[in-house]
Amino acid sequence: MPGRHAELGRAKLDPAAIPQAQVRFLRELLDAASVPGLPQAEAEAMIEQEVAKVNMTREESEALLDVALRHPVKMVVNALGVPSREQVERLHARGIRVGGLVGKVEHALRQREAGVDVIVAVGAEGGGHTGNISSMILWPQVVDAVAPTPVLAAGGVGSGRQMAAALAIGASGVWCGSIWLGTKESDLLPEEKEALFEADADDAVQTLSRTGKQCRVLRSRLTDAWEAPDAPPVLPMPLQTIATMEARLRINRGRAKAFMSPPVGQIVHRLREETTVRQVIADMLMEFSDSIDRIDRALARD
Ligand SMILES: Cc1cc2nc3c(=O)[nH]c(=O)nc-3n(C[C@H](O)[C@H](O)[C@H](O)COP(=O)(O)O)c2cc1C
Repeated sequence: MPGRHAELGRAKLDPAAIPQAQVRFLRELLDAASVPGLPQAEAEAMIEQEVAKVNMTREESEALLDVALRHPVKMVVNALGVPSREQVERLHARGIRVGGLVGKVEHALRQREAGVDVIVAVGAEGGGHTGNISSMILWPQVVDAVAPTPVLAAGGVGSGRQMAAALAIGASGVWCGSIWLGTKESDLLPEEKEALFEADADDAVQTLSRTGKQCRVLRSRLTDAWEAPDAPPVLPMPLQTIATMEARLRINRGRAKAFMSPPVGQIVHRLREETTVRQVIADMLMEFSDSIDRIDRALARD
C-alpha cells in the first residue's frame, strides 16, 4: 500500500492508454537484440493479465486485504507507506499482527504511531524497494527509536553471522528476501537463477526503472539501457511497472538472460548454486550458533 502513487487514469484497463514513449523504447531495445516479440494474437491479453496483478492504489490494496482476510493469516506486513489507523484496528480486532517495512527512522516512528506491532528495518543493501541507509546504521537507529516495539532486521541478511550481528544490535529477529531466490522452492526462471549465481555484490544495483520507486535489482542490459542518455523518463509508480510489462514478458518468454533483472540485494554474492529453504535455514542456524560460541570464547579470554 504505497503512500504515494500516480493516478492510473485508464492505463490499467486500456492498453492504448499506457504511456507509449517508454513502451517504444523497450520495444526497440529488444528488437535490436533479436528478443522475440509476444505472439501478436495473444499479446494484449497477456499484458492485461499481468497488469491486473499490479494493485497499488488504496482501493486496490483494500481489496487485496479483503482477500487476505478470507484466509487464516496471522500477520499482515505492508511496505512503501503507512497503513491507516482503521486498517490496523481492523486487523487487530481479528487478532492479526501488523508489520511495516521502513528504511528510515522517521518512517518507523510513523508506523508506530499508526499502531503497527512489528517494524521491519530494511537497509539499503536489501533486494527490492529500499532507501539509502545501510543496515549497520539503520538497525540500531530504528531499534532505539521505537523501543520497546520489536524490530526485525532486514537488508543483507543471508548468514548466521549476520543474524548474530542483528540480534547483538537489538533486533528481535531477522527478515530475509534475496537469500531465498537461489532455492529450489523459488519460482524464478532457471535463467534468472543462473544470472544470480554468476553475480557479485556490486551487480545488485538500485534503479527507478523497474517500478518508478528506488528498487535494488540485478544489473542487466535492461537496467543499463535506462541509464543511457537517450532513455525516456521513468514514470511514477505504478505506471512504470505497467509500461514495462510487455518487455518483461518478452524477456522471460524469450529466456533473454542478459536482460533479466530480478529484484535482489547485495547478498546475491552468496547465491552460488541451487539449494533449498531447509538448507538455507540449517546453515544459518549452524553459523549463528558458531558465532555465539566465538563471541563467548572471545569474552572468556579476559
Ligand atoms: C524478489 C523480491 C521481491 C520482493 N517483493 C517484495 C514485496 O512484494 N513486498 C515487500 O514488502 N517487500 C518485497 N521485497 C523486499 C523484502 O521484503 C525484504 O525487505 C528484502 O528482500 C530484505 O533484504 P534482502 O533481500 O537483503 O534479504 C522483495 C524482495 C525480493 C528480493
